[in-house]
Amino acid sequence: MDQHLKIVDHPLVQHKLTLMRDAATSTAVFRQLLREISQLLAYEVTRNLPMSTRQIETPLMTMDAPVIGGKKLALVSILRAGNGLLDGILELVPSARVGFVGLYRDEETLRPVQYYFKVPQGLGDRLTIAVDPMLATGNSSVAAIDLLKQAGAKDIRFLCLLAAPEGVARMKEAHPDVPIVTAALDSHLNEKGYIVPGLGDAGDRMFGTK
Ligand code: URA
Repeated sequence: MDQHLKIVDHPLVQHKLTLMRDAATSTAVFRQLLREISQLLAYEVTRNLPMSTRQIETPLMTMDAPVIGGKKLALVSILRAGNGLLDGILELVPSARVGFVGLYRDEETLRPVQYYFKVPQGLGDRLTIAVDPMLATGNSSVAAIDLLKQAGAKDIRFLCLLAAPEGVARMKEAHPDVPIVTAALDSHLNEKGYIVPGLGDAGDRMFGTK
């Protein structure tokens, strides 16, 4: 992927995102929309995967048919909101290996605090896609990518639903080699570190915890 930031402006993505932003959207509908949108975003983030061929027999002839090459890709969910993106993508790429990075945001300092880390073996040979719906300050995203690189990942992409300019700049500074795919780049962060106009707390909205 050559672009550092790819905004997926497909009408289906933008329409679903608008429904998700709407504060009147219920938890159940929000979760369903997140699943759907995650698959559309996954289509984009996996667009240029390396390909190889496999010989198959169609009912008519033998054919060298295209298949995704290389090692199974690794999806890494940044807990807890990342799980909302993970589920939909796993439906599209069921053989992907899955990892989890547990980081929560200290609401005073807005700094990430790690509480869990478990990733697949052989990350260095896999395309690793880190998923987190909200790229806000970028603190937790940068910390998660730091951990993935320490674990050996070399080819990393970051998939989110919404990004703030502050988070994109922070990621570009810390990890210029990690392309970001998102549905929208919003205006700014508020004083509490929420993306504006945003959609609120993604975790709370998908799990109904508020
Ligand atoms: N995390 C969220 O869930 N929402 C924001 O707006 C920022 C960070």
